Amino acid sequence: MSILITGAAGFIGSNFAHLIKQKTNEKIIALDALTYAGNRENINSIEDDQFIFENANICNEEYLKKIFEQYKIKKVIHFAAESHVDRSILSSDPFIQTNIVGTQRLLDVSREFNIERFVHVSTDEVYGTLGPKDPAFTELHQIQPNSPYAASKASSDLLVRSYVETFNFPALITRCSNNYGPYQFPEKLIPLMIHNATSGKSLPVYGDGLNIRDWVHVSDHCEAVYTVLEKGQVGEVYNIGGECELTNITIVKQIIDAVGASSDQIKYVKDRLGHDFRYAMNIDKIKNDLGWSPKVHFNDGLKSTIDWYKTNNEWLSRVVSGEYQTYYKEQYQ
Ligand code: NAD
Ligand code: TYD
Repeated sequence: MSILITGAAGFIGSNFAHLIKQKTNEKIIALDALTYAGNRENINSIEDDQFIFENANICNEEYLKKIFEQYKIKKVIHFAAESHVDRSILSSDPFIQTNIVGTQRLLDVSREFNIERFVHVSTDEVYGTLGPKDPAFTELHQIQPNSPYAASKASSDLLVRSYVETFNFPALITRCSNNYGPYQFPEKLIPLMIHNATSGKSLPVYGDGLNIRDWVHVSDHCEAVYTVLEKGQVGEVYNIGGECELTNITIVKQIIDAVGASSDQIKYVKDRLGHDFRYAMNIDKIKNDLGWSPKVHFNDGLKSTIDWYKTNNEWLSRVVSGEYQTYYKEQYQ
């Protein structure tokens, strides 16, 4: 009997892989298509007889069947996705393929092989945006995605829900707020700003920098997903968040101070199209029903994340070479 982690070479999937390896003796299959965001280096220190890497695409149904057959997969934790809003604005096609079609293929194969549990990892962005005084999103909030990324994730959530209702499929959905921590690809706000601040580059702040996100350390998110896997109720949705709302400019200034960069590096740039103003998660349900709550305080988490990027400068240099340069030019110039 084995556990399948999709997207295991990405940011959150690889952090989850490190966590679950410590928690179980069961065989773990780490599946990833190694897109620009996937990096086998993130998990190669834990590869062994118990932890097997499979370079595969979730859209490839035949290959999925082979893996499910060979390893007797019984539990699936589904992280694999195209995950970056800005890229979904440049081109939505890969988002439709992986996030919608890929999830549908994975659901069908999981159903065919009668798996016991399927955790679908989703995002607060499916709920849309909040005004400054609105109450935080609960699990009952309307699904109202505003970017192609969010729409593709919302579609996958609805597919998962339909499999629960139609086929009695044993799935659960988690929706988390913005993550930060080690191994995050430097296209997202925090690692991009750490990288640019430490290398003397400009810090591109969209619009007026006053958009708000609810930040959670990736280790807290991974503990929450593990808790849902172990204790969650099939068919339920669980919000996850850090109860830590900050404006983007607050974070950028905190990074500048922490690394000794200059505020002259801040450059206000054209706003993102359809830029959601505010995300905030009400996490009462997971706290009350499953006993999880976030542990890492943002100031400590940001400090340890900055230290990680400094210590892992070679990792950073490798991931910002090649394709990243092309993307960066297209997005920022
Ligand atoms: P990421 O982009 O760092 O990692 C995604 C991984 O999926 C990569 O390793 C990539 O190679 C792999 N992948 C992409 N397409 C694939 C395919 N067709 N087949 C197999 N593998 C494929 O993303 P992340 O930040 O680690 O996010 C993981 C999940 O968590 C996503 O589902 C995302 O929607 C969700 N999420 C992310 C955040 C966040 O702040 N990063 C917040 C909430 C939810
Ligand atoms: P991001 O990390 O892309 O996550 P998401 O869009 O999923 O919330 O962006 C976080 C916030 O930071 C968002 O409001 C957009 C903003 N942002 C910038 O101001 N500049 C940047 O270069 C990036 C990547 C993001």
